[in-house]
Amino acid sequence: MKKMLLLIISLSSLLFASSEMDTCKKCHPTIVEEFGDSMHKKSSVDDDKVHKAVWDKHPARESGDYKCANCHTPNIKKEDAAKTDQQGFSCSSCHAIKDVELHAQENKNIYTTEDKTFFSAEAGREKEKVKYKYETSLLGLNKTSVGSPYHTIDYTNEKFYTAAVCMGCHSHKQNAEKFTICETDEKGAKDKKQNCITCHMPKIEGSATTIRMSEKHAFHGFAGARHKPEMLSKYVELGFEKTANGFSVVVENKAPHNLMTHPLRVVQLRVNLIREGKTTALETQTFVKVLGRDNAPSMPWIANAVLEDTMIKSEEKRVVNYSNALLAKDKIEVQLGFYVVNPKALKGLNLDGDKELEAFTILKDKYFTVE
Ligand code: HEC
Ligand code: HEC
Ligand code: HEC
Ligand code: HEC
Ligand code: HEC
Repeated sequence: MKKMLLLIISLSSLLFASSEMDTCKKCHPTIVEEFGDSMHKKSSVDDDKVHKAVWDKHPARESGDYKCANCHTPNIKKEDAAKTDQQGFSCSSCHAIKDVELHAQENKNIYTTEDKTFFSAEAGREKEKVKYKYETSLLGLNKTSVGSPYHTIDYTNEKFYTAAVCMGCHSHKQNAEKFTICETDEKGAKDKKQNCITCHMPKIEGSATTIRMSEKHAFHGFAGARHKPEMLSKYVELGFEKTANGFSVVVENKAPHNLMTHPLRVVQLRVNLIREGKTTALETQTFVKVLGRDNAPSMPWIANAVLEDTMIKSEEKRVVNYSNALLAKDKIEVQLGFYVVNPKALKGLNLDGDKELEAFTILKDKYFTVE
């Protein structure tokens, strides 16, 4: 009885918790903590300096029409507002997505209107919709609880198995001139074995809930260009081959989308030749997708052409040739990395002098020795 009372008290305190995440934290602390460090949680003007810098230059800023909200600070309004209103990017921004409507300009997430119902995926439970209940065995000896005491879990949404749930925000975006400024290939959100979720939310150590212990949980920090890129380096391979008049370096992108998807990014391949202890830097190769207008690079909202596209494409093996003759025992150091913001764009965005953004992040680094 005392236990029951405690449960009622703690459950009612949950209903009046200040934010959705505080509530989830009581039973999913590891996931909530990871999410707090993710770029999803930090995608607002207040928390992402790069997003703010671009928004500060945007023509719609004058009128205060924040066009980025659907994806950067999604809000969900429910009838029973006191309980489920969600402001800014939170758990419901994904777990309440029932469907994704396809549109030319940008897709639209359709959120469920059912109170406290979350969609999720678990192999073997594809047909279940679990409301919390106590199950009593025939003899009444074992009482086991099923599901979550706080919410219903709907395992039947196919989009959580194929990762199509990610495509409401990640698929593409066109500007006012119907010119596509960024896109992520759809093929990465079709297969149940490998998709956006398996690569960006890999299963790592730690229980998903404090109530039903599990060995692993899906990483909610969302490894990407800004946060934990090292978790993705295994999806990029670097190879080396001697050629008739030098050598070539092969960069293999195993991702089902451009190695970088945002037009601000710049990828570089840096190669050093190490001979008898002396290091010589060879010519750096740069991979970009530059948008522009009238043959000059421009901000995305006025762009109407791709001026240059050397970005490494989905599942591409890019071969880069070098005409340096090699000697036995030479070492070749190969580094593949990126800038979050094109160094040429930093000044125009008033981001120059920012150490973090001026830094070159190495995604993969490898040495080869010449036979
Ligand atoms: C009182 C504890 C409690 C609270 C509060 C709670 N959950 Fe849960 N949740 C659970 C339990 C227990 C499970 C596991 C149920 C199972 O595996 O049968 C679960 C499972 C889930 C799952 C699906 C897990 C799977 O098996 O795929 C999601 C998604 C989820 N919770 C989201 C949330 C969100 C979002 C919040 C905050 C709004 C929240 N939960 C708050 C206890 C809770
Ligand atoms: C349709 C969804 C959508 C809309 C609308 C949207 N964005 Fe984004 N934005 C994204 C996604 C997804 C990313 C992640 C990077 C990628 O895949 O391009 C992103 C990334 C960014 C970045 C890069 C941030 C970083 O981490 O360096 C900037 C800057 C940005 N958006 C600015 C804006 C601005 C400004 C607006 C509004 C005028 C806007 N976005 C509207 C989906 C959207
Ligand atoms: C960007 C979308 C997104 C956001 C935001 C998000 N999740 Fe998830 N979450 C998923 C997906 C997709 C899965 C299914 C992965 C799987 O189980 O294979 C998942 C799985 C889960 C699970 C299942 C158990 C497991 O194995 O990890 C729980 C619990 C959960 N989320 C809770 C939360 C909570 C709590 C928050 C907010 C702090 C949150 N999620 C935010 C997309 C999201
Ligand atoms: C409600 C919109 C929305 C949904 C749904 C969504 N994302 Fe995102 N995602 C964004 C935005 C906006 C950004 C850019 C944040 C920024 O950098 O400011 C982003 C960024 C990312 C990044 C880059 C993180 C980094 O550190 O650079 C990854 C990876 C990512 N999302 C994966 C996913 C996956 C996987 C799913 C599906 C499970 C998903 N997203 C669903 C809006 C969304
Ligand atoms: C095979 C693994 C794999 C799959 C599947 C995959 N990605 Fe990626 N993703 C990567 C790698 C590798 C990178 C580049 C490294 C990095 O960003 O740190 C990346 C980068 C990203 C970024 C950051 C790009 C930028 O310019 O900031 C986003 C956003 C992203 N992926 C979203 C998605 C979405 C959405 C899907 C599903 C449609 C998806 N990814 C499927 C491996 C994968």
